[in-house]
Amino acid sequence: MTSNKSNIDRLLTQVGELPPMPAVAQRALALIRDPDSNMGDLANTLAMDQAMASLVLRWVNSSYYGLKYPVSTVQQAVAYLGQRTLHSLILAASVAALLDRPVPGYALDRGDLWRHSIGVAAGARLLAAKHGSKIAEEAYHAGLLCDIGKLAFEILLRNIDTSEADWQGYSFTDLETAHFGVDHATLGAEMARRWNLPASLIDAIKFHHRPSQAGEGAVLASAVHVADAAIMMLGIGIGKDGLQYDLDPVACERMGWSEANMKDLLERVIPFIEEADNFIRLRRR
Ligand SMILES: [Fe+2]
Repeated sequence: MTSNKSNIDRLLTQVGELPPMPAVAQRALALIRDPDSNMGDLANTLAMDQAMASLVLRWVNSSYYGLKYPVSTVQQAVAYLGQRTLHSLILAASVAALLDRPVPGYALDRGDLWRHSIGVAAGARLLAAKHGSKIAEEAYHAGLLCDIGKLAFEILLRNIDTSEADWQGYSFTDLETAHFGVDHATLGAEMARRWNLPASLIDAIKFHHRPSQAGEGAVLASAVHVADAAIMMLGIGIGKDGLQYDLDPVACERMGWSEANMKDLLERVIPFIEEADNFIRLRRR
C-alpha cells in the first residue's frame, strides 16, 4: 500500500505541474455540499467568471433543455433547472478547458475526451436517477471527472511509443498498470484528493473500472462504469482505450441495468453530447 502511494507520488512529481482544478469549479462543488447555500451564492460564483456565466446561460437556452422562454439571469436558470442541475452545468463549464485537450498517448484528438466525459456524465446521471436527484448529480460529477488521470498519463506517455506491438490488443488500464504500476483511475483519484474533492467522488473515480471494489462511492462508481461502457460502445472518444471493456456484472446489477436497456440509454445521452459539442465550439471562439 505504502509503495503504491510512493509510486503515485513519484509519478505525479514526474508529471510536474498538475492542471489545477479551476477555482470556480471548486467553489461550485463546495456549494453543492453546503446545505445552506442559495441562489445568491451561485450568482456570486458565476460572477467570478463572466465569460463562463454567459456560456452557461447560452447552454441553458440551447435546444437540449427545450425551455419555453429564454432565460437571461442565473436566478431564472435556477428556477427552471433547479440549483443542482445548474451547479452541474457550472462544473462542466469550469472543467471544459481541462478536458478539451488532445490526449495523443490515447489517440484522442482535441474534443474527444470532453465529448466522452460529458457522455459518461449524462449517462451516469440517468442511471443513478432512481437513487434520488442528489446522487444523480453526484454521478454526473463523477462521470465528468472519471478520466482526469489520463491528463497526467498523457505527459507520462509522451516518452513511450504506444503504437508498438506490446501495447496492442490489451485494455489501456492493464497496460497503464503494467508500465507504471497504477492505472489512470488510481492516479485520477489522487489528483481529485489533491483538489479537495469529496471522498465519495474520489472513491468513484478510483473504482470506475472496478466498481465491485468501491466503498462509499459504490453507486457512483457503478453508474459511471456502466455509462462508460455504453459510451465506449457508441465509439465516442474511445481512442486506444476502447479496444477492451470488461463490463462488471456487479455494477449492472447495482444499477438495475441490462444490455437490453442500452438503446434507450444511448438515445437519451446523444442529444446531450451534441449540445456539449456546440458548447465547446462556443467556448473556443
Ligand atoms: Fe476510465
